[in-house]
Amino acid sequence: MSKHIGILTSGGDTPGLNAAIRGIGKAAIRKYDMSVIGFRDGFKGLMQNRHVRLDGEALSGILTHGGTILGTSREKPHRMAVGGKKMDMTQVIKDNIEAHHLDALVCLGGGGTQKNALKLMEAGISVITLPKTIDRDVWGTDITFGFDTALNIATEAIDRLHSTAHSHHRIIVVEIMGHKAGWLTLGAGLAGGADVILIPEIPYDAELIAETIKARRSGGSNFSIVAVAEGAMSAKEYDELADLEARREAAESGDERSALKAKLAKFESAQKGSTARLAATLEELTGLEARVTILGHVQRGGTPSPADRLLATRLGTKTADLVADGVSGVMVAIRQDEVVPVPLEEVAGKRSVVPLDHPWIESARSLGVGLGRGPE
Ligand code: F6P
Repeated sequence: MSKHIGILTSGGDTPGLNAAIRGIGKAAIRKYDMSVIGFRDGFKGLMQNRHVRLDGEALSGILTHGGTILGTSREKPHRMAVGGKKMDMTQVIKDNIEAHHLDALVCLGGGGTQKNALKLMEAGISVITLPKTIDRDVWGTDITFGFDTALNIATEAIDRLHSTAHSHHRIIVVEIMGHKAGWLTLGAGLAGGADVILIPEIPYDAELIAETIKARRSGGSNFSIVAVAEGAMSAKEYDELADLEARREAAESGDERSALKAKLAKFESAQKGSTARLAATLEELTGLEARVTILGHVQRGGTPSPADRLLATRLGTKTADLVADGVSGVMVAIRQDEVVPVPLEEVAGKRSVVPLDHPWIESARSLGVGLGRGPE
């Protein structure tokens, strides 16, 4: 008997999601005569049983489209907003999956989705995941789809900022997405020739950044491009955050934990203005005028790059093969250009961040790019 697949997309949208949906669906239908449905808006739509048939027609013409035809949300199965409360909806999800006679639920998402999928697997659901995110921070895969497109967009932005920074003799601080991992900022910063690159993995010292900019000025370059990741922090902020997190972990009473949670939320909300504060500090320390450009969701929008389409298609078609073989409980990863299944237990709850000895860091240091901190 032919099999049934359900697909959903969860977390922030990413270019290449439609290419992956198409790859899974077309291969499942064409090669294995499976039937395929999609759930709307991530786990929320699965819980509400809002679905759509993904037949040849629905899967046609979507390869080049950005976003996700299914819609997405950041809802978690075990803590879903229902009637103003957070509720565990795992059983409802299980019932819906059974009602559709699904042999596999395919979840396309980033780090959070891997964790949610593992929980569903532990509840007895046959799950397979694909790694998508512009942040490139999913553990267990060499790359995630969406990253290459965002890298192209952010690099082009840095290219364009050069001419205006140069004309006005300014510092331009450009904020690039990535709260916890600096892959996108480091990649785009290097590819775009940024003079300073600040990532969450390397706490920075504003004085050192100013020294880099002043040294450029002494060398005849009256402008600088500073590429900063959303989650980059000064060493002082980094220590403050680490202290709050450690205290929350160690908190013995519920009240203490709630108070620390509130402090962490306040800290995170204050971080939202950190790029503007950094620009003002650099202005003060260097005497050069500074401007801020926040690339924001532009980095996630629009048509996927050929590399992302190719990657998403390869991961998608392999997913259909895995379902046909009865494999589940895995993320379909790419390692050394091979598409391989990796157990979800290995992946969930971990994050791939930039190692301090990564070749990209070495290249940046060799070029004299300021990283906000000297080599250890
Ligand atoms: O997870 C991908 C990502 O684009 C991050 O780089 C960014 O910090 C975050 O999503 C933004 O999330 P949202 O679109 O929900 O504001």
